[in-house]
Amino acid sequence: MNAPTRADTTWSVVEDGWNPERANYFETIFTVGNGRLGTRGSLEERHTGALPGTFVAGVYDAYDSPVIDLVNAPDWLDTEVFFDGVRLDTESARVVEHRRELDLRCGVLHRETVFEVPDGARVRVRTERFASTADRDLCCLRIEVSCLDRAGSVTVRTGVDGHRRNLERLPTYREATAFGYERKWDKWARSTHLVSAGSGFVDGVGVLSSRTIDSGIELAYALACTAEGGRRRQRSRHDAVEVEWGFQAGVGETVRVDKLVGIATSRDYRALDPPRERAVDTVVRAGGFDAAAAANRAAWERVWAEADCEVVGNDRVTQALRFAIYHLIIAADPDDPTVSIGAKSLSGEGYRGHVFWDTEVMLLPFFLFTQPRAARALLGYRHHTLPGAREVAADNGTGGARYAWESADTGREECPQYTPDGKDRFYTREEELHVTADVAYAIMRYASVTGDEDYLFGEGAEILFETARFWVGRCEPDGDSLVIRTVMGPDEFHSHVDNNAFTNKLVHWHLHQAAEVYARLARERPERLRELADSIGLEDGEPGQWLATADRLRAPTDPDCGVIEQFDGYFEREVVPIVEWDDNDMPLYPAGYNHFNCETTSLLKQPDVVMLMHLLPDEYSVATRRENYEFYEQRTVHKSSLSPSIHAIVGLQVGDSRTAERYFGRSAFVDLDDNQGNTEEGIHIASAAGTWQVATHGFGGFRASADGLHFAPALPPSWERLRFSVHWRGRTVRADLGHRDARFELIGAGPAEQIEVWGSPVTLEPGTPVEVEAP
Ligand code: BGC
Repeated sequence: MNAPTRADTTWSVVEDGWNPERANYFETIFTVGNGRLGTRGSLEERHTGALPGTFVAGVYDAYDSPVIDLVNAPDWLDTEVFFDGVRLDTESARVVEHRRELDLRCGVLHRETVFEVPDGARVRVRTERFASTADRDLCCLRIEVSCLDRAGSVTVRTGVDGHRRNLERLPTYREATAFGYERKWDKWARSTHLVSAGSGFVDGVGVLSSRTIDSGIELAYALACTAEGGRRRQRSRHDAVEVEWGFQAGVGETVRVDKLVGIATSRDYRALDPPRERAVDTVVRAGGFDAAAAANRAAWERVWAEADCEVVGNDRVTQALRFAIYHLIIAADPDDPTVSIGAKSLSGEGYRGHVFWDTEVMLLPFFLFTQPRAARALLGYRHHTLPGAREVAADNGTGGARYAWESADTGREECPQYTPDGKDRFYTREEELHVTADVAYAIMRYASVTGDEDYLFGEGAEILFETARFWVGRCEPDGDSLVIRTVMGPDEFHSHVDNNAFTNKLVHWHLHQAAEVYARLARERPERLRELADSIGLEDGEPGQWLATADRLRAPTDPDCGVIEQFDGYFEREVVPIVEWDDNDMPLYPAGYNHFNCETTSLLKQPDVVMLMHLLPDEYSVATRRENYEFYEQRTVHKSSLSPSIHAIVGLQVGDSRTAERYFGRSAFVDLDDNQGNTEEGIHIASAAGTWQVATHGFGGFRASADGLHFAPALPPSWERLRFSVHWRGRTVRADLGHRDARFELIGAGPAEQIEVWGSPVTLEPGTPVEVEAP
């Protein structure tokens, strides 16, 4: 096995030494996955205070919990190692050395720990784990144990543990709620989502089946375990299967156990063979650990060829970018159009695996330009959950479809009304309506970048029309105009506001887009229009109604409108200056303020008007964008990790390169530096995507419109060059950007492509690199 590699630091993240207080942080950072599932980087044998978890995309359950959970699924790592009867873990033995390294290049987590047992003998445990990207149903673990000082008996017990529960809520304590790491999670109520549906061994392969109690999903795990030499015993309990190997190891000798686990569920939309058969088939087909590892490496090589982003001259930034890209890649399954990416991806229980607007506004661009198949699959989720969105609209007394603020498997609203400690009420569930227009935005963006008309005129049009109908029902008359009352914009500090500018403008835009797509369908595909109109009962007069609604809606539509008032009455809110920043350069709440009492102030949690400028830059003049950026920037405390990257990008567009690098840093290191303080709950995946956007769209000046690709790089002084690729209509453009020059190469057969660089046209012939000098 490869020892922890001490490789190129830009391709890895390292934990050096054992610190239990940092363990939950590393569990998140070291998540391995493949879009179908994610497994936190917990120690195989766990430790007191561990927060292990495997999450399978789309496997949700609401039993025994007030809010539906992404189920903490059976644990495929579960391993114990004993040396002469002493359990080798961080509490029963002394940790002499401990080093883990996540190899971002191939998604493999390496571990090396040297334990000392009470009589002073040292034993080294090495492991290597990955969730295969070549076969998304396969997970692999290799365990090696070396006796460094003396011979002894080594026992390796490894299996699948189905006894898993989700954290529910922290009970309210009158005394302080800060507990030591070893008790922190014990204080939480837990919910059960799984019951056993059978376990046993057939031909040496263990199978554990579990079923989610409420949603009735079967999860089948098949365990194939091999070793050279050693005495094998296998056991199954109602919620576990395991294999135990006993060895007599000499001094300096190493014993090795390989474990392959196949995971299949009954919710797989391809509805293939029963999950148990598929899980067994996966481990049989894999052909052993080495073959599986080679296939995984090759799959990752193909992914990085399209997705890498590198900053020459700044290794720390390159590492942060690759770390972000790694987590984005393991968050999405390009083969499954029935799931989306939760706010913490598949890396933790934070936000219970729920899906927000993050996918549409933050994540989509990354996938659009590096893995368009994954982008298409993510949009598929919104079509798959359209029936749920129709129910949400009906519950709100309107027709059409309204997307839930927090969505899980069905698209129905899953957003809780209270904070987990039950103390504070929030209104995002009822009021954060803009997600519906954000979905429309993503559809149009995907269609314009990919030119995929089958999608636009198919699933896309159905969603656009159904959601447009919702807005017609939701707008209210106010004199001659229409208004949208009692909402919350992206800035969640202000609830129950009227005419949030972000919402109203996006609704205005959405209604126009829907009418335009309708007109194109009528012209270009009348049969498809008839079919769609029949299926959703669309009347001929409705598109006219969408346009009439948009035109009467109070929305900031003038490109030179000056500073936009975030919502009616915002300008009257008390101005409370931000005067302090923490060690990570993040703003602190002004004294006396917190998340729940900023209503009366003009403080913002995250960009709202600035987010509008980011999503629809062409709708506003540069001067307007600059005025709004300067006005709102001083009022934003960035208590959402979505916030800094958007400020970096818009800042760069309006000429504020001074603060852009600072904002980039806040976004790029959100998890590596844990600058929001909650990385242990899961990766801030939207911020990872924002980081990629700042590098490529911000500093790289990359933009794609229906007519082609544009680049206008303006790199920070500390960056020598920025290199990345973008996928464009079936081909790839590689960009290598400097301060005074830029090089491009078009990969893939076909005609020449014209791009624009620093405002001038440049022709790219396939396979012929082109160099451009800055004007
Ligand atoms: C942000 C939202 C975001 C959610 C999930 C919240 O803190 O305010 O904009 O969608 O986190 O990431």
